[in-house]
Amino acid sequence: MKLALVSEKVRAMIPSFPDSEEVIAVASDASEHLADILERAEEKPVLALVFLEAEDFSNFVDCFRQINYRDLVYRIVLFDPGGAHDSVCDEDLGIIYDMRTSPLSAVEFHFLLRRGFAFLREYYDFRADKDEKYLQLLDTKQDQEDLINIGKSLSVEKDPDTLLRVILFLSKKITGADAGSIYLIEKNEKGENQLRFKYSHTFSKDIPIEEFVMPMDMKSIAGYVAITGKVLNLEDMYNLPAGSPFSFNTSIDAQHRYRSKTMLAVPMRNHIDEIIGVIQLLNSKENLQDTQLVTGNEAFEIRLETPEDFDTKVLPFDPRYEGLMEAVASQAAIAMENNRMIKQIETQFEEFVRASVNAIESRDKATSGHSFRVAEICKEMARAVNEETEGVFGDVSFSATEIKELEYAALLHDFGKVYIDLAIFMKGKKLFPKDYENLIMKINYLYRVIELQYLICDAGCAEATFSEEARKQVESFKIGRKEKLEAIRKAKETIASLNEPTVTERDPGEILDSVMLEIGQILCRDIEGNSIEILDGPTRANLSIRRGSLNEEERKEIESHVLHTYNFVSRIPWPPEFKNIPEITLKHHEKLDGTGYPQGLKGKDQIPVQARMMAIADIYDALTASDRPYKRAISKDVAIRILTEEAKNNKIDTDLLDIFVRYKIHDKVDKDSFRMAD
Ligand SMILES: [Fe+2]
Ligand SMILES: [Fe+2]
Repeated sequence: MKLALVSEKVRAMIPSFPDSEEVIAVASDASEHLADILERAEEKPVLALVFLEAEDFSNFVDCFRQINYRDLVYRIVLFDPGGAHDSVCDEDLGIIYDMRTSPLSAVEFHFLLRRGFAFLREYYDFRADKDEKYLQLLDTKQDQEDLINIGKSLSVEKDPDTLLRVILFLSKKITGADAGSIYLIEKNEKGENQLRFKYSHTFSKDIPIEEFVMPMDMKSIAGYVAITGKVLNLEDMYNLPAGSPFSFNTSIDAQHRYRSKTMLAVPMRNHIDEIIGVIQLLNSKENLQDTQLVTGNEAFEIRLETPEDFDTKVLPFDPRYEGLMEAVASQAAIAMENNRMIKQIETQFEEFVRASVNAIESRDKATSGHSFRVAEICKEMARAVNEETEGVFGDVSFSATEIKELEYAALLHDFGKVYIDLAIFMKGKKLFPKDYENLIMKINYLYRVIELQYLICDAGCAEATFSEEARKQVESFKIGRKEKLEAIRKAKETIASLNEPTVTERDPGEILDSVMLEIGQILCRDIEGNSIEILDGPTRANLSIRRGSLNEEERKEIESHVLHTYNFVSRIPWPPEFKNIPEITLKHHEKLDGTGYPQGLKGKDQIPVQARMMAIADIYDALTASDRPYKRAISKDVAIRILTEEAKNNKIDTDLLDIFVRYKIHDKVDKDSFRMAD
């Protein structure tokens, strides 16, 4: 409404009031009069042009300082015959529309009214427009923040099902939707596209819907959006636009006493602009003036229960959500694709690691399953450490990724063995079987040669007649024959026992020397007449090994598997979270007292906890694994005794062995698991 309000004090300055559409009122107290009008006015804003004496200015302005422009817009025509306008402060000058020192003519008054109200209307429109733009700006800012937050939330979520929930939750939060569903495009057995209804949630009602598939055609809303890539913003699902190729199935509504009213359906486009699914949102509940929201979010606070609720609380989706939701759906699609690719990479790594391990395991059936079992034991130990709430491991915990890292390291810890001659690993005696057979064959040959020499001699002697002297010589020759053959037989037995990897008290080299002293003088020649060397240098060196079955060179060769493993796993482009794998594998044979290999590291600071765990798992499995051609399996109790001894001697970690024993890790992994079929 328009109001020309004239203070009684200045009434005399206005000779006559014209007939006009504005309300013209004269009041003794202008501010009181205006306040009264504001209270009663049905039409707002009140546009008021106030004619006031200068000395009343400040009081008047103070009364209306807090009034919103949507209720009142006013300006003052000041009458100031005494120069009181000087007291008006600068901030309030804008309220003064005009100032007069003499009475107005009728024409001037009329013109002032016309121009004044035009100004007030223009001012009001300008403010309203500015406010609207400001609100739009706030919406845009909110949209941007939502998008950024969605990007952040989606990028950290690794679980595909949780990701779908997060996508729907955020979509509903942004649009104030009461319900939403996600459809994903997939191929059927014929290679045709179909839509899988993947996930849905309705805030107001518990409507459980099982996953199902449907044809991807234009008959359904999701199919239409998936095929055309268009956004659908529908105002009434029960009254679809004329000529729509799709229809809406109302049966679920009927079943659950729900009313699908407004819908926004957007395509989910991935990074190469391919549509991978559709997000459908139902019943926007935004912008309800009369609702007091606690959380500030309509989607999760306004419940639609009665038919009236659906009539009064559901609104069409604001068109600005069309573009915004398209962006959200694409972010979701990209997050899902990323997720899928990460999963694919993980699976590929897993398969690659397992295939590599199978390559080592298949070389030696007797040790097969070792790497898998060591990996299982390590995982169980890490989980046990996680359960500790006090003590050394009270605040140590392994994340799922760290346990995976440990598992991969354990699976590959012996991969370097593929570079090493299998015969060395299988070497159970000091001589390789063929070398031993060769040696025994030479001794047998020597025996037979000597025997034959005597037989020939016997035959010759039988035909000859000897003098007494000669007969004595023949007899002593026969006695010597027995001794020689006996010495050869004994040498054979000694060599067989020296070939065993047992620890001998006497130096095996010395024993060998005394044996060879006896049979070494016996001359033995081949067909060409060359003398045959019974014990060559390398054979002698091997039989002289004082402990175990390996010579120095072979032991070093076996130990080098750690470096081969390290070089191999270092070349694999692991994702950053698996960066410790090379180091863990490199250190699985280090001992706390510095006697391990390859670097002879000392103490817990130098050997990571994962490598210390692996050392225990490795020794335990090597001891208890089923019989090997060169080693008998030992019982779990004996293995633990040996490990305890190792811990006492500061070779392995006592605290980790304590975990191993306390949590009965040995019972969690069967010694024969993962074995290959013979
Ligand atoms: Fe190893
Ligand atoms: Fe091993």
